Amino acid sequence: MKVNGRYYRTIWPSADRRAVEVIDQTLLPHRFATRRIDDLDGAVHAIASMVVRGAPLIGAAAAYGLALALREDSSDAVLERAYQRLLLSRPTAVNLRHALDDVRAVVSPLAAHRRAAAAWLRAGEICDEDVALCQRVGQAGLPLIEAVFRRQSRPVNILTHCNAGWLATVDWGTATAPIYMAHDLGVPVHVFVDETRPRNQGAALTAFELGQHGVPHTIIADNAGGHLMQHGRVDLCLVGADRVTARGDAANKIGTYLKALAARANGVPFYVALPHTTIDWTIRDGLSEIEIEERDPTEVTHIAGRLDSGEVARVAIAPPGSAALNPAFDVTPAELLTGLITDRGVCAATSEGLAALFAERRAPTR
Ligand code: MRU
Repeated sequence: MKVNGRYYRTIWPSADRRAVEVIDQTLLPHRFATRRIDDLDGAVHAIASMVVRGAPLIGAAAAYGLALALREDSSDAVLERAYQRLLLSRPTAVNLRHALDDVRAVVSPLAAHRRAAAAWLRAGEICDEDVALCQRVGQAGLPLIEAVFRRQSRPVNILTHCNAGWLATVDWGTATAPIYMAHDLGVPVHVFVDETRPRNQGAALTAFELGQHGVPHTIIADNAGGHLMQHGRVDLCLVGADRVTARGDAANKIGTYLKALAARANGVPFYVALPHTTIDWTIRDGLSEIEIEERDPTEVTHIAGRLDSGEVARVAIAPPGSAALNPAFDVTPAELLTGLITDRGVCAATSEGLAALFAERRAPTR
């Protein structure tokens, strides 16, 4: 997608091909800057500190991180150590594990001197594949938006949570891919963007990218969505996911569950958009089986923003000494989802629905 008219992906090899470059998402929307990741430490830090974030993008960054580690030392021991460090850098999104497993499976059988180049190549392919998968998610979700527009002949109001946009992937995004496609085809869309406390990925990132692409949008406080749904102002909820279980439970940014409850209570369709790299076929019960990352409580007690002077600053919003808790994700049970929008089409959020699209995968039956 474009920033200031120039095409970007969120991650790409540096010109000297000795590093990867990324968009530093901790600086947005106030400053657009790219950052170089030169080695394993840099990759682990970029993922953990959320310089790069979003399930598909952290998978891509981890794949490059492994390749950079193997450049220094391509022994089995380093491969394993780098794999573990990257895996632990963020626990909830399964794309991270899938990308690491993928690269490790490619390089493990190779002679040590061939590993780094093979890992680098595979990391690039994982990026290209993610772009193609997200594009297909967009094509699968587009008819849902078009159908709403045909029914009502007025702009389609879509509510989204967090940033499941192109910044969270390599390009296109998941929840935003059908929105960009609808917009580009002239279907009028308007997006209600949940601010997404505590880190404000909605207000900072989703609003930024929708604005860059010219998609009409309105930022709302996280607590406003239910009210808007009660008053018929939301036609469709579209969110992304960090991990979807074999029966369709979906972990996504904290607060997604509350929006799904409000959507169910008000008869608003609620879809989760995801590439198949976000499905964890090894588990069924999202509530008991998905590890929910807990982040630093200061993300709750403090907030960052731009002062009128132009300076970006961080301020406290709570009394000193009050405890704060910061679960970064929640799980929306499959029963609350209208459906899953995947790179192979739309399906019910059930074991059967997923199995019909991904017949080659055998879901666990427990
Ligand atoms: O903590 P984050 O910003 O990495 O969380 C991201 C999300 O929850 C996204 O909604 C999810 O990764 C879907 S990405 C297309």
